[in-house]
Amino acid sequence: MLTYLAGAQIRRAFLDFYQARGHMPLPSASLIPEDPTVLLTIAGMLPFKPIFLGQQERPAPRVTTAQKCVRTNDIENVGRTARHHTFFEMLGNFSFGDYFKKDAITWAWELLTQVYNLPCEQLWVSVYEEDDEAFALWHNAVGIPPHRIQRMGEDSNFWVSGPTGPCGPCSEIYFDFHPELGETGIDLDDDTRFLEIYNLVFMQYNRDAQGVLTPLAQQNIDTGLGLERLAQVLQGVPNNYETDLVFPILAKAAELCSLDYYQASAEQKRHLKVIGDHIRAVVHLIGDGLIPSNLGRGYILRRLIRRAIRYGRLLDIRGVFTPILADVVVDLYTEAYPALVEKAHWVQQVLLQEENKFRKTLETGERMLGQILAECPEQISGQALFKLYDTYGFPPELTEEVAQEQGIPVDWTGYRETMQEAVERSQSAHQTIDLTQGGVLAELAELGQTTFLGYLQTYGTGLVLSLLAEEQPVAQVAAGAEVRVVLDRSPFYAESGGQIGDRGYLSSSSGRIRILDVQKQGDLIFHRGQVEEGTVRLGDTLEARVDEDLRRRAQAHHTATHLLQAALKAVVDPNISQAGSLVAFDRLRFDFNCPRALTETEVEATETLVNRWVAEAHTLQVEVMPIAEAKHRGAVAMFGEKYGAEVRVIDVPGVSMELCGGTHVRNTAEIGLFKIMTETGVATGVRRIEAVAGAAVLDYLKTRDRITRQLSNEFKVTVEEVPGRVATLQGELKRTQKEVEQLRSELALTRVMALADQAHDVGDKKILTAQIPDTNPDALKGAAERLLQKLGEGAVVLASAAEGKVTFVVAFSPALVKAGQNAGKFIGQVAGNFGARGGGRPNLAQAGGIPLDQVNEALRYAEQLLRG
Ligand code: SER
Repeated sequence: MLTYLAGAQIRRAFLDFYQARGHMPLPSASLIPEDPTVLLTIAGMLPFKPIFLGQQERPAPRVTTAQKCVRTNDIENVGRTARHHTFFEMLGNFSFGDYFKKDAITWAWELLTQVYNLPCEQLWVSVYEEDDEAFALWHNAVGIPPHRIQRMGEDSNFWVSGPTGPCGPCSEIYFDFHPELGETGIDLDDDTRFLEIYNLVFMQYNRDAQGVLTPLAQQNIDTGLGLERLAQVLQGVPNNYETDLVFPILAKAAELCSLDYYQASAEQKRHLKVIGDHIRAVVHLIGDGLIPSNLGRGYILRRLIRRAIRYGRLLDIRGVFTPILADVVVDLYTEAYPALVEKAHWVQQVLLQEENKFRKTLETGERMLGQILAECPEQISGQALFKLYDTYGFPPELTEEVAQEQGIPVDWTGYRETMQEAVERSQSAHQTIDLTQGGVLAELAELGQTTFLGYLQTYGTGLVLSLLAEEQPVAQVAAGAEVRVVLDRSPFYAESGGQIGDRGYLSSSSGRIRILDVQKQGDLIFHRGQVEEGTVRLGDTLEARVDEDLRRRAQAHHTATHLLQAALKAVVDPNISQAGSLVAFDRLRFDFNCPRALTETEVEATETLVNRWVAEAHTLQVEVMPIAEAKHRGAVAMFGEKYGAEVRVIDVPGVSMELCGGTHVRNTAEIGLFKIMTETGVATGVRRIEAVAGAAVLDYLKTRDRITRQLSNEFKVTVEEVPGRVATLQGELKRTQKEVEQLRSELALTRVMALADQAHDVGDKKILTAQIPDTNPDALKGAAERLLQKLGEGAVVLASAAEGKVTFVVAFSPALVKAGQNAGKFIGQVAGNFGARGGGRPNLAQAGGIPLDQVNEALRYAEQLLRG
């Protein structure tokens, strides 16, 4: 007589048994392995692969786990046999270089027979055909008669974790449902009689890609006991699905299509089993962070969900049902996997969306398939298979199943060829398309929308719908990463209508993201930030906390902007309209159409009026109404802005009424104070006011105050005396500057007069040609005249370069002029020789434009001419 144990009791007893024998109990690892080469966790040993291979420290010499696993290689058998599952739990005890075959074998037997009370006469064992040691242990240490120990080949008794990896011979324990059939002609593979329940792997080799076995540094133990299988045995039910671990899901599904499971036909039962199995798998997969997609793991998940939905349809379940069944699964696992409870809402949401999406395509797809089968009942072509998938989202494996039900084969080779062509076509077509513009955002759009909570609250919780790192969707992000997070609900205001996005934190018990910017795309809010601590995963529920101080600053500036617009209309011109605005934490900027600059009096009056409205403490009224009504009431809209049918109206009663999606103070008194900083022009007919309101006024005042105090200290007067002191100092400065000018020109003149010594005598006349530094044309002329006075009769030619320009000045004495010489003509000739122009009066003339590097040559040329 077997003792009934519930699934949870079997799990608990296993872990307790091995914990009592020195094993450290560890929680189940995720179904999504860290090892990128493996799609899903397919066995209890998978998380320990690096330890077996000696690449990672062991957490303890012995551990024990109940590990969630998903295998999809036998998916077609699910529901058909008594024991096939995609999702199952594997109970395992592991030794990392600690105990080996003897303990593994004797403990396994003790557990089965003493704890689970399985009758020894109903247990059979197998060993690897060459493993005499295991055979001897079963016989001598446990006492199994030799005929009940079967030697089996490599196929069934040599276990490898994949094409390569740790491996070893194994020994399996089978339960015999029909001991009355006798002990001869035994075939342990006959699953109508035997059920393999416990596999002991003696992990001692590593297999490489060529199949070569290398001994591992240590001898290890990896075991797996199928929880659902043992439950089937101990609960005395005909298959895994009817155990307490799965049956509640089947029962719920049956209820949804008004069936009694026990009265149902074999086919209906099979469909219910597939649904029950798949729902368990998808709930755990989504709970571990996977989302349905067309790639890799995501595709496995999508296929499981779509299969479940299709079987639901075959059973005539009406309406969306996968989220309802998900609820049953979560309930079943509340105790063993408490983290799943937190994910329940997320799991349901993902399922809801996938089911809604698939239902739409399923109908069309099924019709299409019906047509295809009618037209060509011999085979489903590769092209048809592909089209059903590509256009209707009908997984090809599903098409194959439907076809198989009618005995029609599908052309997989043709399918793969068509697929390949399509991939090549799309690769060449999409090479230049930015993923963020197409694919990712298109996928994100499927997530629906972020509900904005922030009009009423600055705190809330939201589910992570998507994580983008470097613009690519990822399942999780860790400390240091830059990330964009999409939540299903958020109190964070996204930048729009000139108002800057909120700042703050998104956090959970496992990680924290500091939010640096918030933007909107479509109906989704993207929180951009940096992970400061821990890890954040898809499907996590995060606490979203807006920085309230900054939010208050933005609100004060936003409402003040509305008041400013109203005040400008009242003070300056009722026709003033908004041309743009910025509502930041530290200031506001308001651009408006106005043909002229405001006077100082207008600026002051505007500021005073806004402050009066602030002091009057008007309570804002915020209402959503049809746009026609808003217009009728006289709400101000922004020209050129697009508005929906329903608009949000911000009303400061009696003062201002504007269409606006921003966040505002509840009462104008919250603004406290309003101060205009500058009024400037930005374009023809557009003026700009920059102002501060609320807490930002204090910042503004502090800066001003610091500056005035600095000035008062510097000048050693009171702040009030600073302007008088500055005026006095400026007067003094002007006088001093004048004196300096005078002194400078006197000094220059003295230097110039000294040049007189360099004059040459030509007959009774004196000639002077010289270059003097950095002198402007007027000063140069003055200098030439003074020099000529000193020299008496003769000519003076002076050149100077000032500010990059060369000036020549010529002065002729009266005698020279009387003798018919002309300074103007003379300089004209000199300049002309150097490609420049010059002219003037007969006694004083000037030229410009002689190249800087030819000044000396020009002076020599002038002297020659004069001598001539
Ligand atoms: N790794 C073995 C199996 O999966 C034993 O745990 O059967």
